[in-house]
Amino acid sequence: MSLQNFLPEISTENLQKISESLGPLNELFEGENEQFTEYSSFFGKIHPTYKNYSGNAIEIGRAEDLSSDEHNALHEYLLSLTPWRKGPFNLFGHDIDAEWRSDMKWNRIEPELPDLAGKTVCDVGCGNGYFLFKILKAGASRVLGLDPTRKFKRAFESVQIFAREPGLRFDLGGWQTLHYIPRTFDAIFAMGIVYHHSDPLELLKTIRGALKPKGWALIESQGIQGDDPVALFPRKKYCGASGMYFLPTAACLENWLYRSGFKNVKLLHNIPLSLAEQRRTAWADVNSLQEHLLQSDQTRTMEDYPAPWRSAFLVQG
Ligand SMILES: C[S@@+](CC[C@H](N)C(=O)[O-])C[C@H]1O[C@@H](n2cnc3c(N)ncnc32)[C@H](O)[C@@H]1O
Repeated sequence: MSLQNFLPEISTENLQKISESLGPLNELFEGENEQFTEYSSFFGKIHPTYKNYSGNAIEIGRAEDLSSDEHNALHEYLLSLTPWRKGPFNLFGHDIDAEWRSDMKWNRIEPELPDLAGKTVCDVGCGNGYFLFKILKAGASRVLGLDPTRKFKRAFESVQIFAREPGLRFDLGGWQTLHYIPRTFDAIFAMGIVYHHSDPLELLKTIRGALKPKGWALIESQGIQGDDPVALFPRKKYCGASGMYFLPTAACLENWLYRSGFKNVKLLHNIPLSLAEQRRTAWADVNSLQEHLLQSDQTRTMEDYPAPWRSAFLVQG
């Protein structure tokens, strides 16, 4: 199905611009298609007897739905997608314990959300699409995930091939893609992306422009503790990660939101990131939060900056 079938609001002219803006992202890597085609033909015939998106894990299929050969092939394919950054997922009994307990973020946010029933929603910077299933379960009728990382798209597809949710779609792209989808969404989720970009106000204004009148956005961000409206700007890495620009206090993010034109800016939470939420696991055998904090002082990062906090705001467009 084309993006325009999923989202008929996009004009043909803008669809063309989206495609042009993707540039090299559109190009497949050698062998990429073959690997997924093989996976699809192996698993495309399987119909899981169980789906549940209400618990902490996105669960699809029961162990007994697959033969042992199918289990081995599935396990091998899922392992090829490590490290699994967001989760948990459970596919046919394979428990994918990802680096991030995304369920903890969702459980903080969900009780605060306006009604999603029948809404058209975008999750921009959606990672492997964990939250797409949650937003669908919360009642949205169409959820578009945008993320430029091909591996995350493949991880989503490896789940969606079994879930077969017509209301979900993942496209390669980013917040910049929203320039070409103006006034389209009832709601936009932008979680964990604002500090990864050098112009957070441009990012926030672009998100606002893609909302319908009366639309709302959920903006969630990593940042630092403090009452002053300031942001930390690391010299290089922050907490072991590159591509980090402005890490705001909640007061600073609040000001960015107002100055991007959002109204009714409501703080949902502002808390330290816990070692329970981001950690090394068997499915993400990578240095994680614990390894990126100073061992002598867990309130500082290894670069000797203040340790990360997370804040989230609900805003009207
Ligand atoms: C820290 S992760 C956040 C994932 C998820 N939204 C969450 O809250 O757990 C940042 C995500 O932003 C994606 N990303 C990179 N460039 C982007 C862009 N220009 N627009 C949107 N997302 C982008 C990355 O691929 C990655 O999945």
